[in-house]
Amino acid sequence: MNNKPTKATISFDNGAAPIELPVLSGSLGNDVIDIRALGKHDIFTYDPGFMSTAACNSSITFIDGENGLLYYRGYPIEELAEHCDYLEVAYLLMHGELPNATEKQEFIATISGSSMLHDQLNNIFRGFRRDAHPMAVMVGVVGSLSAFYFDSMDIREAKHRELSAHRLLAKVPTIAAWSYKYNLGQPFMYPQNHLNYAENFMHMMFATPCEKYEPNPILAKAFDRILILHADHEQNASTSTVRLVGSSGANPFACISAGIASLWGPAHGGANEATLNMLEEIGDISRIGEYLKRAKDKTDNFRLMGFGHRVYRNMDPRAAIMRKTCHEVLNELGLNDDPMFKLAMELEKIALEDEYFVSRKLYPNVDFYSGIVMRAMGIPNSMFTAIFALARTAGWIAQWSEMHSDPEAKIGRPRQLYTGAARRTVMPVSKR
Ligand code: SDX
Repeated sequence: MNNKPTKATISFDNGAAPIELPVLSGSLGNDVIDIRALGKHDIFTYDPGFMSTAACNSSITFIDGENGLLYYRGYPIEELAEHCDYLEVAYLLMHGELPNATEKQEFIATISGSSMLHDQLNNIFRGFRRDAHPMAVMVGVVGSLSAFYFDSMDIREAKHRELSAHRLLAKVPTIAAWSYKYNLGQPFMYPQNHLNYAENFMHMMFATPCEKYEPNPILAKAFDRILILHADHEQNASTSTVRLVGSSGANPFACISAGIASLWGPAHGGANEATLNMLEEIGDISRIGEYLKRAKDKTDNFRLMGFGHRVYRNMDPRAAIMRKTCHEVLNELGLNDDPMFKLAMELEKIALEDEYFVSRKLYPNVDFYSGIVMRAMGIPNSMFTAIFALARTAGWIAQWSEMHSDPEAKIGRPRQLYTGAARRTVMPVSKR
C-alpha cells in the first residue's frame, strides 16, 4: 500500500488561510513539495545553500547519501568503474543509455576528430603569466572557445547543442594538458588520435618532442577510472552554476567556463589539491592529532580537507574505489611505502573513530584519495582540479543539455528575504 503523501498543507498561526501544495515523487529518493504556487500567496521559502531545495528534475545521476550510493542513469558507480571507460560513461550521461559497439566506435571517432584546438588559440595561452594556476588558464581558454566555434551556439537547436558538447568533451583535455605544458615552459604536444582518451591526455601531459612516450596502460586505466568517478554528481555547486548560467541562454562554452570557475573553490573541486597540500603540511603521523584538534576548533577556520560532504552521510562510494585505485597505482610504481598514502590511511582511520567526525557523519569524500593517485602518477597538485574539471565536463554538458530539453525549465531567478533599510529620502551632501 503506497501511503506516500500527495499534498502538503502550510498553516499559519495568525489565522491566515492555509496553503495546500502538491507533493511530487521521483523514481528514487526523497519526495518534494512543489512550492511554485507559493509566490501567488505573497510568501517565499528561505533555504540558503539549497540544503533542502530541489532546483530541477533530472534523470541523470542519483545519490543516496545515507547509504553511500551513486548511480549514473541507474548504473552503480562501482560497476561503471569496473566495466566501462570514460567515453562510454560520457555517452551514457549524455544519451541515457550505454553505447553498443557501433555507437561506441562512432562516438570515439567523433571525439578524437575534434581534439585539436583552432591554431589561433595558442596565442591566448601566451597571454598568461607562465606561473598562472592551470584553473585560471582553463576558465579563460574554455570561455574563449565561444570566439572560435560560434557556428554551434544556437542552444535551441539540438544539433548545435550536441556539436558543442562533442567539441567540449574533445577539447577540454587538450586545454588542460596545454595549461600544464605552458606552466612548465615546454612545447604543446598535439593530441594523437590513435590513443584512447586517457592515454591521449597522458601523452599531451608528459610527452616531449625529443623522445618517444608510451603511456603506461595500468596508469592510463587508473586515470580513466578517476575520470569516471568525477564525471557527474547531481546538482553540486558547479553543475548548479552551469545550469543557472545556461538558463539565461548563454552559450555552452561560457557555461562550462563558469562551471570550471565554481569547481575551483577549495570547498568543492579544489579540495583535492587542498587535501594533498594539507597532507604535505601534516607531514607525519605524529602530527595528525594536532590537525584534528584544529579541525574541531570553531575559532580556527581549518577544515579537514577531503572530509565531509553536503549529501553523503556515509562513505562517499567514490572514495572507496579511489582508495583501491591508490593501491593499484602505488603497487605498479613500486611505491607501496608511499608515506603520503600511509599518512592518509592513518588519518582516515583516526578520524573515523573520532566522536566529532562520527557524530557529524563526516567521512572521506572523493577528493581524499584522488590527489595521492595523481601525485603518484607525476601530476602536480596544481593540476588536480583541472583534471576534475576535465572529467566533470561530461556531467556538466549532460545536465546543461537536459535543462534545455526540459519544457519546465525557466531562467533561474531566486528571490530573497530582504533585511535592508525601509524607504528613506536622499539628503543633500551638505546635510549628510
Ligand atoms: C566535492 O556537492 C558535491 O557533490 C560535491 C562533489 C562533487 O562530486 O561535485 O562531491 C565534490 O566538492 C566534495 C567535497 C570536497 N570538499 C572538501 O573536502 C572540503 C572539506 N569539506 C567541508 O568544507 C564540508 O564538509 C563541505 C563543504 C564539503 C560540506 O559542507 P556542509 O554540508 O555545508 O557542512 P556544514 O558546513 O553544514 O558542516 C556540518 C558540521 C559543522 O560543524 P557544526 O557547526 O555542526 O559544529 O560539520 C563540520 C562543520 O563545521 N564540518 C567539518 C568538515 N566538514 C563539515 N569540520 C571539520 N572538517 C570538515 N571537513
